Order: sequence, then structure tokens, then C-alpha cells
Amino acid sequence: MKVDGVVRRSIQLAADGRSVEIVDQTLLPHRFVTRTLRNLADAVEAIGSMRVRGAPLIGATAAYGVGLQMREEPSDASLKRAIEDLLATRPTAVNLPWALEEMRSALHDVPPAAREERAYQRAAEICDEDVENCRAIGEHGLRLIEALRETRTGRDPLNVLTHCNAGWLATVDWGTALAPIYLAHDRGIPIHVWVDETRPRNQGASLTAWELGEHGVPHTVIADSAGGHLMQRGKVDLCITGSDRTTATGDVCNKIGTYLQALAARDNAVPFYTALPSSSIDWTLSDGIAEIPIEERDGSELSCVRGRTADGDTVEVAVLPASSPVANPGFDITPARLVTGLITERGVCEASRAGLIGLFPERAGGASDS
Ligand code: MRU
Repeated sequence: MKVDGVVRRSIQLAADGRSVEIVDQTLLPHRFVTRTLRNLADAVEAIGSMRVRGAPLIGATAAYGVGLQMREEPSDASLKRAIEDLLATRPTAVNLPWALEEMRSALHDVPPAAREERAYQRAAEICDEDVENCRAIGEHGLRLIEALRETRTGRDPLNVLTHCNAGWLATVDWGTALAPIYLAHDRGIPIHVWVDETRPRNQGASLTAWELGEHGVPHTVIADSAGGHLMQRGKVDLCITGSDRTTATGDVCNKIGTYLQALAARDNAVPFYTALPSSSIDWTLSDGIAEIPIEERDGSELSCVRGRTADGDTVEVAVLPASSPVANPGFDITPARLVTGLITERGVCEASRAGLIGLFPERAGGASDS
């Protein structure tokens, strides 16, 4: 993606070839600021505070976090500690344990003296693989968009609703849900995006709206509760979201509020697709509601809202009575039956075990549906 005309990724090596440069997503949309991660603690803090967020990017940052630690101390104990510390940051996105397992298996048979080099090599591969997977998701999703557009001649633009941020900021580049939208826009398909604000952290309003604006994609930010109304009025042609963890049976775990949009989509016969790289599939799980750990975040994310004043100062204001208790689950599960299809790097499939195995036959033989 380009920011101010400069091609960049959401995570990349700094000029010294070892430190890691991220975009501090807590400062967007008002300030685009990069931040340098120099050690394991920096990587742990960046993921936990959501300076970096989005399932694929969490995995990529964790991979480099292991590299940073191998640079300081390449022993077995140090590798173990890095993996444990990073694993404890956020529980829901399966890309985190996936990337850490990739790092562990790449490093455990390597002599300590060679671990730093190998760690950076594998982390770079994980990033490159993510870029390639997201680009492929974009191509497969684009074909869906083109097919849908053909069924509605003369009614441009195509209106797509998305939730949270599943764009290039959430991955290494391109994004998942937004990749087909960028490609469609670039290829001249008139497209407009309804952007759910995505309370409490406003990833839609702050990040998706910013990304789409930078790329010139027409969009409108809406309250999370507006989607159902727009669908009833025929103003949504398609929903596409991302996923933090998809079960082997096609249940999708994504940012809180996704399930309600999927229910509204089903009630209004609007196709609801989830775009995800295979690193977001948890092949060990078959029941998303029972088995996927849902992150509970601090109540202050709900009770306070952060924004910019007319003077350009960033301030945080309370929006709740100080004594009201708050619950803040970060994710919800959309059961496979509400998902029209999964858009993966290998193509589009039904949200089911059979559908996923059709695209990933090497995964056949796992646990069966209960
Ligand atoms: O809490 P976040 O901002 O990390 O949640 C992100 C999402 O829910 C995204 O939709 C998901 O990670 C898919 S990103 C391609």
C-alpha cells in the first residue's frame, strides 16, 4: 500500500536491518507515526496495547518478536520465554500461536549461534507469505464482486458493508476483507463501502475509513447498529469481514458485532462472506461458540472515548456514569450456517468442513463434526 505516495508495509525492518518498524495504529487516523520495536518487550507491548492489531499482523509481529529476542539471547530458555510472553498477549487470533509454532519449529534444531539469522529469515517469509495470500484473497474476492455486479446491471455502485478493520493495517499488506475492494476499485468497478464504526475501539471509523480514504475508495462510516436498517432498504449488496479464528467446520470468530451483521444479512438475503488466509484457520476446533477463547478487554475501552479536539489535541472523555459496570468482550462467533462463503488464498468455498477440505485436502483426517 502507499501512504503519501510511499510504498510500505504495516510491518517492515528498520534501516539497521534488525529493529522492526510498525505503524502505531493507536494514533490513527489523526497522526501517521511509525514506531521502532527493538526488543521482545517492545513487541509484547505493541501487540498487547494494540499498536499493532489484526490477526495476520499480530502473527507477523510475534514472529519478529522472536527474532528480536534471538538477537539478544539465542538460548533455548530465551526462545521458550519469548514464545510464552508473546503467546500471553492476546488470546483470540489463532495467527499468534500459528506464527509462534512456525518460529519454534524453524529454530529448535538450529544451534544458538545461527538462530538470529534463521529467525529473521523465517519472520520475513511469514510476512511475504501473508502478502501473497492476501493478494490471492483479493483476486478470488474480486471474481465474486464481478459476478455479483453482473446480476445487477445498471445499479452502480456496488455497496459493500464491512466490520472492524481487515485491511492492510491488519495484515502485512493488502488486507483480507478489503483486498477484493481495493482490486475492484483499481480495476474501475464502481464500489462504495459502508464502514461500521466498530465500537468500542473504533477500528472501522479510525482505521478502515482512513485506509479507504488514502486509497480513494468511496466509503461512508455508519454506527454499528445501522447495518440492519440499510440492508432492509436494499442499500447493502454484499458483506465481507475478516476472521481471527475460523474453525475446521467454518464457524468464524471476528470482532464483536460481526455476528449481528451476519444475522441481519441472513434476514435480508444479503450475501455474507468472510475473507481469511489459512493461517487464521484453527484445524483443531469444530465448535466455535464452545471452543474459541474470547478476549475480554479493559472496561475503559467502553467507558471512555478518545478523539481530537478542534485545537488538534487528543483527549479522552468519559461517556458512562462512573459507577456503571462494563463488560467488554472483544470478539463473537458467527456460526457457519450464516456465512455464505469463505474467501481464502486458494479460492472461495462453503463455510463447512467439506468446503475447507476441498481447498486444503492435506488437512483431511482431522476431528469430525460433533
Ligand atoms: O481487535 P483487533 O482490532 O485485533 O480485531 C481485528 C479483527 O477483528 C479483524 O477483523 C481480524 O483480525 C481480521 S484481520 C485481516
